[in-house]
Amino acid sequence: MSLIGKGQSLPFPSFATTAKTTPMSTTFQLDTATSRANPTPAPMKRLTVPAIQRRKFEGKTEQPLVMLTAYTARQAQLLDPHCDLLLVGDSLGQVIYGLPSSLQVTLDMMCAHGAAVVRGSYHSVVVVDMPFGTYEASPQQAFASASRIMAETGCAAVKLEGGVAMAEIIAFLTARGIPVMAHVGLTPQAVNALGGYGARGRSQQEHEKIIADGQAVQAAGAFAVVIEGVIEPIAIALTQSLEIPTIGIGASAQCDGQVLVTEDMLGMFERVPRFVKRYEEIAETISGAAAKYAEEVRARIFPGVEQTYQPK
Ligand code: KIV
Repeated sequence: MSLIGKGQSLPFPSFATTAKTTPMSTTFQLDTATSRANPTPAPMKRLTVPAIQRRKFEGKTEQPLVMLTAYTARQAQLLDPHCDLLLVGDSLGQVIYGLPSSLQVTLDMMCAHGAAVVRGSYHSVVVVDMPFGTYEASPQQAFASASRIMAETGCAAVKLEGGVAMAEIIAFLTARGIPVMAHVGLTPQAVNALGGYGARGRSQQEHEKIIADGQAVQAAGAFAVVIEGVIEPIAIALTQSLEIPTIGIGASAQCDGQVLVTEDMLGMFERVPRFVKRYEEIAETISGAAAKYAEEVRARIFPGVEQTYQPK
């Protein structure tokens, strides 16, 4: 599907670090060719899970890993050139669907949005969240859900929440060829058990639990681990003690990488957590544009001559 007319060209900013001369995927053109019968070549090789894992070498990550959430194809196109990983987070429940938490997110939702993000990206490793209730019951349940996500979306890895309690499930999946990113600390799917979204690890018991969770997911075969909403010393200790990359959110700049919910950093919502830095005020931009449009429609200024078809 091409939204750009024949002969039209668009500026192609280049990838910051990996492919300086290769066009980025932000071309208003979605390459939907996914089979040998229709082999449109991708403009570049996608990063891989082992390549991400190798970015941490002898306990150090020279260039921190960059991850953002993406839920749609166009959003993925825009973020892809700047990221190493795109996360189709179950935060889409709140961000896209207006749900009160991620608990109501379904496999159908994750598969639909995951496939869109894979179609909209060429470069980043796409990781898709496993929704609450689709993996915790048994390794077999987790395998059925993860294999469906991977087959229907074309993503490279799944993410699931939990540490020691999920180790058996992570080991089962990774032994069967499914790369797993783990998620410890503040785990939003456990919001009812945790009692809220506040930072974790302030008590000694919780501190020790989070460290044990990080160690357990590494031992089980996770290729990376998100550390969310923990006091900074825990994030630093885990990053220093683990061989796999840690991806922080509300954690520490010392983590091996960072992730944010894209809409949060774009300023889409009035209220954002303390750990979010707003790089834009997109809500104001959208609301301002809608107000201007409404005014022009009501004043019969829009559509003008440029936007109307006349007989030849
Ligand atoms: O669902 C999500 O977006 C996440 C990130 C916040 C890490 O899990």
